[in-house]
Amino acid sequence: MSFVTAAFASPSPPPPDDAGVQEAFLRAFHAEHPDVTSQLLGRAGTGDGRSSYRVLADLVAGARRVVELGCGDGLLLELLARERDPADLAGVDLSPQALALARRRPALAGARLRVGRAQELPFADGSFDACVAHMALMLMAQADRVAAEAARVLAPGGLLACVVGGGGEGAYEVFAALLRRAVPPEAGPLRIPRLGDPRARTREGLDELLAPAGFGPVAWATLRVDLSGPAERVWESMAGMYDVRPLPPDLVTEVRGAFLAQAAAITPPGGPTPCGMVLHTAHARLG
Ligand SMILES: C[S@@+](CC[C@H](N)C(=O)[O-])C[C@H]1O[C@@H](n2cnc3c(N)ncnc32)[C@H](O)[C@@H]1O
Repeated sequence: MSFVTAAFASPSPPPPDDAGVQEAFLRAFHAEHPDVTSQLLGRAGTGDGRSSYRVLADLVAGARRVVELGCGDGLLLELLARERDPADLAGVDLSPQALALARRRPALAGARLRVGRAQELPFADGSFDACVAHMALMLMAQADRVAAEAARVLAPGGLLACVVGGGGEGAYEVFAALLRRAVPPEAGPLRIPRLGDPRARTREGLDELLAPAGFGPVAWATLRVDLSGPAERVWESMAGMYDVRPLPPDLVTEVRGAFLAQAAAITPPGGPTPCGMVLHTAHARLG
């Protein structure tokens, strides 16, 4: 299973739907799939073999008190707890089901895990040294409010560090193209709400979002996550995307058939179907 809405990304996307609609969709999706992201990306390696969670944890290695926005089932917090007292960790997520999984992690006993919105953090001013978000910031409505809240809860000089989605390669691109064809813009009920603020997906956009909240320039790097494997397994990853949720079963079957045929054409004899996700790390310090 996967979780990203990238199939409809375009350089000038239309404005997002309102926050209530977006968040209702995310709550409903993650009620059914509370650990979808960690299942897909938790074991997948980037270029140097580290997972994208590990890369993000390493970016905030020097920070003692860390809060995670959109913490999901708590995999990143668990990595952070290896080097910290869990009492110094906090996480917030819209999804009670994802949070319930995070609370079951023994390493997180004592961490503050709250169901809530990143736009209204239930934490005191200046109470963290770093604020992290793994595959979540680019899904959040009212991103300027999220930036202001991150700045509020960070101590002076605190670090905001994120992993954001950036599309894909190989079979991922095949899937995205098939989905664009299967669900044209006029297919209203088959489309999910437009999620997040597109500025959170680019370095320039993040600079624009973060500077008014008091952050310095964004440092940016690209990661490639290898999701290659047997074509059926790659299909299972793609079929878990947010965008697939509203599609009727017969349309999903049709897309699957086309996907497997096209995946075969890009798969070397005896080898895995190539598939990758492109992610970015972004970090900026509070001035
Ligand atoms: C793609 S999942 C990533 C989960 C986790 N960070 C991970 O990488 O395993 C995105 C998460 O962000 C959460 N989320 C989205 N918008 C949010 C918001 N405004 N406030 C809090 N959580 C939010 C969702 O509920 C979901 O759990």
